[in-house]
Amino acid sequence: KDLSLIVTPLLSWYDQHARILPWRENPLPYHVWVSEIMLQQTRVETVKPYFDRWIESLPTLATLAHAPEEQVLKLWEGLGYYNRARNMQKAAKMILDTYGGEVPASYDALLTLPGIGEYTAGAVASIAFGLPVPCVDGNVLRVLTRILTDQREIDQTSVKKYFTEEIRLIIPRERPGDFNQALMELGATVCMPNGLPKCELCPLHFMCKACLQDRVMEFPVKAKK
Ligand code: ADE
Ligand code: SF4
Repeated sequence: KDLSLIVTPLLSWYDQHARILPWRENPLPYHVWVSEIMLQQTRVETVKPYFDRWIESLPTLATLAHAPEEQVLKLWEGLGYYNRARNMQKAAKMILDTYGGEVPASYDALLTLPGIGEYTAGAVASIAFGLPVPCVDGNVLRVLTRILTDQREIDQTSVKKYFTEEIRLIIPRERPGDFNQALMELGATVCMPNGLPKCELCPLHFMCKACLQDRVMEFPVKAKK
């Protein structure tokens, strides 16, 4: 197996098929951060109007830090998991106090902020700052377990760790954010979870073991309940 073979076809596919999304046009750190927090438990189409309203009302990190909490929660209303919004405001205050108001351009510094875990730190570091850091979500795991017919149960933390390290080895230094987003985008729009992966449209089908063996729906392997 040589996973590095996915890089070039995946980026070409992304160049042709990436959705135009409000946080992609101009990936400012604050915008990328807000979008990635919103996208954690919510679909892209749902997030779009929330993102636009949020950025219009709270255009900068400082406006978020200083906004009344009711306003922040009002802008989040309907998205659920309100701690995401509360943590963003806490983090905005910390960024003002500790980092002079600039979102820190460091994976480790990002990880110390409330509400920012490995996934979000990797997304912001790679997309907003061009750092060669992986960000592995469920979409990415689905794509990779299918390509490799990986038999391990997907919920084991060792599996996520394993694929994070595999990505770290191949992530292209010139376009880390596009590469991460391309994998997520492929999982969301082509290598779908339920029933209908569109393998005939997939730039990776030439090297996808699950597809070549006609076993796509066996992956990812879920733990028996
Ligand atoms: N899901 C979460 N973040 C995403 C991104 N930046 N691109 C595509 N899908 C995503
Ligand atoms: Fe997913 Fe099919 Fe592409 Fe394999 S070929 S990565 S199963 S969409």
